[in-house]
Amino acid sequence: MGNRNLENQIAIVTGAGSGIGRELCLSLAKRGAKIMVTDINEKGIEETKKLIEAQNGYAETYKLDVVDSDMVKNVMDEIYKKHNRIDILISNAGISTPPSLATKMPEEHWDKLLKVHLYGTFNCVKACGEYMKANNYGRIVLSSSLGGVFGFAGNVNYAVAKTGMVGMTYTLAKELGPYGITVNAVQPGIIRTPMTKDALKAFEEGFIKETPVRRIGEVDDVSNAIAFFCMPESSFVTGVVMRIDGGYILQSSMDQIMMDVCSK
Ligand code: NAI
Repeated sequence: MGNRNLENQIAIVTGAGSGIGRELCLSLAKRGAKIMVTDINEKGIEETKKLIEAQNGYAETYKLDVVDSDMVKNVMDEIYKKHNRIDILISNAGISTPPSLATKMPEEHWDKLLKVHLYGTFNCVKACGEYMKANNYGRIVLSSSLGGVFGFAGNVNYAVAKTGMVGMTYTLAKELGPYGITVNAVQPGIIRTPMTKDALKAFEEGFIKETPVRRIGEVDDVSNAIAFFCMPESSFVTGVVMRIDGGYILQSSMDQIMMDVCSK
């Protein structure tokens, strides 16, 4: 995938001021896309822009709070008016809240997280979808998570949001497919970013042991998968939810016991 098969395409990335979003911008820019770097974090988007330009890519920055539907609409309108197309939308912006059992979770944590992930994604898709339909082309990728597969103890809000993203992916794939727009999602496991810094400090060794490929995920593991969904050649790939977890979810303690027994 080292070619420039996204030359001059307009790619909007939310949550692009950090972690996976930043790496994704760099990855799509290397493939020739013009990157609309958006985030609530203004310093973060300027840093991402500098990094894109340092590799001779094209970037514009937009301060964007995905929760604010008017702001989302205004920014998307501005981008479309300027470029007359929106080819790619990556809904990546996300937050986590301090872990707590569902019965003890403060309502504000529930609200805040669902607003950013679910309402935020809905706002962005709604604002871009009609523009993509007008051009009969589009690539949309949503950020689900392993936490959206079998639940996530201590994080019911996150699990609900990320499972909701799967329903959104399937539904949008059906609604937008006739217009040449594909909609897919990624489900990363533990990826090394600012969001997981604290969890990794405490559990890195354990996670590695429980992951068949014996390492923690890195941001480019996710950006490479997303870049695949974004390629024009991936036009028959839609409604796919791709786990990117080094096999983490497959392994149980029984597997480890059997591996140990068989290695003796
Ligand atoms: P990160 O914390 O490094 O980056 C998230 C970005 O989203 C930040 O720049 C933040 O400012 C931005 N953001 C937060 N609220 C926003 C809002 N209202 N409007 C616009 N931008 C906003 O996190 P990371 O790890 O890069 O996560 C990116 C996405 O990947 C998230 O949706 C996260 O849930 C998901 N994910 C991450 C995993 C991991 O292990 N790091 C695993 C599975 C999913």
